[in-house]
Amino acid sequence: MPSILEAITNRSSKRAYLPKPVPKEIQEKILNAAAMTPSGANMQPWVVYAISDKDVLQNIGDAIIEKMNSGVEHDQFIQYYPLKWKNPYKKRRIETGVGLYTLMEVDRKDVEKRRQMWHDNFRWFGASTVFFVFTDKDLIDNAQGALIDCGAYMQSLMLSAKEFGLDTCPQGSTTEYGKVVADVLNIPENLALLYSVVIGYADENAKINSYQPSRVPLEDNIIFI
Ligand SMILES: Cc1cc2nc3c(=O)[nH]c(=O)nc-3n(C[C@H](O)[C@H](O)[C@H](O)COP(=O)(O)O)c2cc1C
Repeated sequence: MPSILEAITNRSSKRAYLPKPVPKEIQEKILNAAAMTPSGANMQPWVVYAISDKDVLQNIGDAIIEKMNSGVEHDQFIQYYPLKWKNPYKKRRIETGVGLYTLMEVDRKDVEKRRQMWHDNFRWFGASTVFFVFTDKDLIDNAQGALIDCGAYMQSLMLSAKEFGLDTCPQGSTTEYGKVVADVLNIPENLALLYSVVIGYADENAKINSYQPSRVPLEDNIIFI
């Protein structure tokens, strides 16, 4: 069993999975653990659709890819990435992207291959379970606290998964098409998709899963006083 520090430091986003399903009992254990995530006033503002139905996942992916192919860049409830990238975030984003494409030997100009790799998000990297995390629109329209709570919830899901030998990939790519996901699932009107987390048994032989981008040294973003 990994220690807490091991689980945190060894977790990394995995982008290739075996088709092996994640048993519902294990999903429930992970969701029960993540339910203990603290939230302001104990609001527990997350609502999760834990989807393992192949057809439903296929339909969501198809609908997103169709939307993308029609030229729609996003159809979302929240804007996750900055509209204008500035440093140091721009530099970190570029370094992380370049690192991944270099490892996978994808040329910077190979737009088609890059697009295909992005589409892999909507094929759930071959995994058979995806958690789609929604919150109540009323909690994010004039306030932002629920976003903090649901962010902490994301990390709880990902770390709990490690306990069962499972890996994950958080997805802001679905955030960008949150309304498409909502349409396919026919979710209640009050909910907004924040993100999804792909969960499954990582393919240890897949080169892409060896990617582990580094972090900046503490002096870059920690101020001790
Ligand atoms: C909110 C959020 C959204 C993300 N969206 C995606 C995504 O759509 N597709 C993807 O492949 N990775 C996505 N990632 C993974 C990040 O690229 C990754 O966490 C970061 O590069 C650090 O790498 P690591 O998770 O392997 O440590 C996302 C991560 C977070 C926290």
